[in-house]
Amino acid sequence: MGFVPKEWPRKLRSQEWYGGTSRDHIYHRGWLKNQGYPHDLFDGRPVIGILNTWSELTPCNGHLRELAEKVKAGVWEAGGFPLEVPVFSASENTYRPTAMMYRNFAAMAVEETIRAQPIDGAVLLVGCDKTTPSLMMGAASTDIPSIVVTGGPMLNGWFRGERVGAGTHLWRFSEAVKAGEMSQEDFIEAEAAVTRSTGTCNTMGTASTMASMAEALGMALSGNAAIPAVDARRRVMAQLTGRRIVQMVKDDLKPSDVMTRQAFENAIRVNGAIGGSTNAVVHILALAGRVGIDLTLDDWDRMGRDVPTIVNLQPSGEYLMEEFFYAGGLPVVLRQLGEAGMLHKDALTVSGDTIWDEVKGAENWNEDVIRKPDRALTRNGGIAVLKGNLAPDGAVIKPSAASPQLMTHTGRAVVFEDIDDYKARINDDALDVDETCVLVLKMCGPRGYPGMPEVGNMGLPPKVLQKGIKDMIRISDARMSGTAYGTVVLHASPEAARGGPLAVVRNGDMITIDVPNRSLSLDITEHEMQARLSALDLPDLTPPSGYSRLFHDHVQGADTGADFDFLVGSRGNEIPRDSH
Ligand code: FES
Repeated sequence: MGFVPKEWPRKLRSQEWYGGTSRDHIYHRGWLKNQGYPHDLFDGRPVIGILNTWSELTPCNGHLRELAEKVKAGVWEAGGFPLEVPVFSASENTYRPTAMMYRNFAAMAVEETIRAQPIDGAVLLVGCDKTTPSLMMGAASTDIPSIVVTGGPMLNGWFRGERVGAGTHLWRFSEAVKAGEMSQEDFIEAEAAVTRSTGTCNTMGTASTMASMAEALGMALSGNAAIPAVDARRRVMAQLTGRRIVQMVKDDLKPSDVMTRQAFENAIRVNGAIGGSTNAVVHILALAGRVGIDLTLDDWDRMGRDVPTIVNLQPSGEYLMEEFFYAGGLPVVLRQLGEAGMLHKDALTVSGDTIWDEVKGAENWNEDVIRKPDRALTRNGGIAVLKGNLAPDGAVIKPSAASPQLMTHTGRAVVFEDIDDYKARINDDALDVDETCVLVLKMCGPRGYPGMPEVGNMGLPPKVLQKGIKDMIRISDARMSGTAYGTVVLHASPEAARGGPLAVVRNGDMITIDVPNRSLSLDITEHEMQARLSALDLPDLTPPSGYSRLFHDHVQGADTGADFDFLVGSRGNEIPRDSH
């Protein structure tokens, strides 16, 4: 049986604060009235928290206060009571050591922000990479009606007649400078051309991927993901989202009704079709954990295996998010997946309708941007999960961004013990390396760095680049920016800092990668592997105190989503105790 809306009217949780005449009710209500709210707003209508990740230090979300006003307009129109609430905002481009270290922190803050306050429904106003999964995870753990609206991507970047993508061309230009093909002055001139409007990275990087994941999961209104940040229709989307959340509260349509196993399987397939970021793997696994869905890395491989990458966007392809929007956006992709039998059509969305109802009429206005399967960029585009003695719990690679000729390869390992070792030696002409080698980087997993930074797409040695070589196999326990590309094996688990086999790779070892057969092996005997593992002497990375200590002690491996062990699952929205 499908979703059955609850009866309305009924008493909402906000009435615990506002609905009565006791001293406590007057305390809660009266203080809010200091902002000029009339008494009848406390009559039991849905109180909507607009959880806003706006911050001037999160530039991708710098326009979200303007969007919040449109959400509020929609909430008012539908008879709700909107209240804008700032929440923790981790910017991808400023947070150190990496924004990923703060995803769980933000999720925890959002969960408690909702539970501790008179919020009946939440609008998650997000954009930059980590802001989307962290707010979705926090809201999922409270399971109050919630809906996502993203800030939208930047306009296309253009530099000297070339379409330049945020992130993707940063990597490309920096390699070109190293190879002596571009001057530093030109690089600086290009910088402002890449990021020429408000919004998130305009490639199919992690922000666009996670916006697409939210839509594919049914947690955002149809068409949300691709509308550019500065397009008037982005503001319309915000207003419609504000209207919709009020009805969701009345119906009691919760994240757990929407984010079912079917929805997660749809999201995995969409990730393959759009050539989405490998970061989605850790975020989607963690999010599934919050709603009690037992999703695994193997599900990623199984569901994504036959999905062709049909969205021709950088870093896998040619275009940028603006063209994706003009071509019809994610609804077209979902329709094509549905027609190919690769979509659970009955999955419910925040609209109250099924995903198929939302997308079955979507039209493709540019078949070079959103390809038909017979013109796919990569026939098997889903994230591939590799296993073997080098990554017993799995590692991931994005075939659509990799070089086909390197998908099966045996090469000599050139090992960097950690990121400092890499930085110290990679540009040294004396480094014994050529393009047939495999670059190995250790100690960059969730616990090792800490936080699992996006360094897995480590730049190539200049002496290789100068030969015109653009790609080599790289293996690490790190992540990679969604805007990056290359034959890059990531998230090797268990990570080196937990004593995973990556920690015992030595310079000169041979490594074999076989993506079609999903294997990744260090070519040594089992006996030798065990001897090296037992002799392993890892440094003690335990911080003495503070958040980094909490992170170290509780972060789980990348193979299960790198959530904190004590945050997995839903804890509902009951108020633990009312102190007033
Ligand atoms: Fe914020 Fe790319 S750095 S979306």
